Amino acid sequence: MKYDMIEVTRNGAVATIQFDRPKALNALCTEMMVEVADALAKLEADNVIGCVILTGSDKAFAAGADIKEMQNNSYMDIYKSDVFEKHHEAVARFRKPIIAAVSGYCLGGGCEVAMMCDFIIASDTAKFGQPEINLGVMPGMGGTQRLTLAIGKSKAMDMCLTGRMMDAEEAERAGLVSRVVPLDDLLTVAGEAAAKIAGQSHPIAMMTKETINASFEMSLTQGLRYERRLFQSMFTTDDQKEGMTAFVEKRKPHFKHK
Ligand code: HXC
Repeated sequence: MKYDMIEVTRNGAVATIQFDRPKALNALCTEMMVEVADALAKLEADNVIGCVILTGSDKAFAAGADIKEMQNNSYMDIYKSDVFEKHHEAVARFRKPIIAAVSGYCLGGGCEVAMMCDFIIASDTAKFGQPEINLGVMPGMGGTQRLTLAIGKSKAMDMCLTGRMMDAEEAERAGLVSRVVPLDDLLTVAGEAAAKIAGQSHPIAMMTKETINASFEMSLTQGLRYERRLFQSMFTTDDQKEGMTAFVEKRKPHFKHK
């Protein structure tokens, strides 16, 4: 896959999408997000791929939506635009597991896109923030909602109202990121996690992700019923038979992804 603003690489069942707009600290311009959405659509349709990593550079995962692109927009421009729903939200709609590997600045829309991923692995140099208030706006791609779900009201209010950044250690303490690793190890650790996920049954991993995400939308009773029904449905799959048989036979499972 050849793109201008992102690099897509593959290693077995894992694909990595890397933002590649270094001069603008990977600010998420329309063209870049169109490319991300296109790459994700192709990777979702690709039966070999079981997990995706979304990453940036050492200096910046992404410093936000592109301020220069938005600066002169009118209300109607921004209201009529389908860029955010169609392209940025493609990350949230992606059905296979996707990990954000974050180093450096992860701000505004960058933090919002990272939070659309299933989990965030951060380098010890990562800095997270929702600084939109400094620009006379507020988060517009899920920051007020996903950040609050991730770290709770008090810290989300603090981040969105002061516009301050938090370092990786604070982000881990707050539950925004799942692990913090030395910068040099970031892609290795993310790659190992992605390979582990991609080595499982792909449809079962997809259903697991779907069920965890459902917990944000449903009451506990509905969520438990949803989990139970999907769990039961897994007994129709070859991979459930293989996984349990392999355990009993004391060998590694060979999942066929069906
Ligand atoms: C466009 C950006 C950018 C952005 C950085 N750049 N962030 N361009 N949009 N979000 C550009 C700068 O203009 C500059 O270009 C180059 O990248 C390097 O940035 P510097 O500021 O010179 O770097 P530095 O001094 O190291 O400061 C890094 C920084 C700062 C702290 C990350 O760049 C910064 O505060 N950026 C904005 C962060 C932000 O407010 N993000 C939220 C955006 S709004 P030139 O050409 O001058 O060299 C948003 C809303 C989402 O995300 C919701 C949408 C619905």
